[in-house]
Amino acid sequence: MNIKHIDVGYSGVIQVVILRITYMSMVNYSYMVLDHINNQAIIVDPAWDMEKIEQTLEDTGTVLRGILLTHSHPDHIHLARPLAEKYHCPIWMSNEEIEDSGFSAPQLVGIDKTPWSVGQIQIEPIFTPGHTPGGMCYLIGNSLFTGDTLFIEGCGLCPDIQSAHDMFESIEYLKNRLKPETLIFPGHSYGRPPGQMFSYVLKNNIYLQFNNKNDFTAYRLRKGQNKVSFFDFK
Ligand SMILES: [Fe+2]
Repeated sequence: MNIKHIDVGYSGVIQVVILRITYMSMVNYSYMVLDHINNQAIIVDPAWDMEKIEQTLEDTGTVLRGILLTHSHPDHIHLARPLAEKYHCPIWMSNEEIEDSGFSAPQLVGIDKTPWSVGQIQIEPIFTPGHTPGGMCYLIGNSLFTGDTLFIEGCGLCPDIQSAHDMFESIEYLKNRLKPETLIFPGHSYGRPPGQMFSYVLKNNIYLQFNNKNDFTAYRLRKGQNKVSFFDFK
């Protein structure tokens, strides 16, 4: 099991477990955040591998208390409903994403930018539209869960000019909000593994090098990019 310890400034220990999950040729990263004071966990963007999730809960002696969704694409929400039903826990998604996607579930809770806590785990949602109209990143301690907004080497696809403008603003916001030592945990990563420091991303990710919206947008929407697939993201 791939576990990172994260310093969240509490007396207790919070850990991030990296779950690499595959379906056919696709590779996604889901993450479990553990609160060892209360023996509970939340999961980010669960998909495809129920066995791995249940095994991780068992191995770490934690109970699932909630499901954080960065956005509504199928490879990020696939197991949200079954997990919520099994563990009787909430599913969190931004109000904008719920409205745009029509995603529904009995346990679904729409959220805005207001932080909240699950035991020792303090969650700060950061609204980052662009890849989808209601995309959220989640800052927990020194770790940011970015879904398809920000990858280590890239950013999520944007379907049109307006969404690329939104993505530029979202990335600008992250540049201002994050500390260099913040760890980045994206929904996909084929280059360096998840958990790189933001300082590395800032230096090496081409999408973070633009300082005006129009240049960013021209590059993001350049020809040869697949605008249709949910799963194509470089
Ligand atoms: Fe996506």
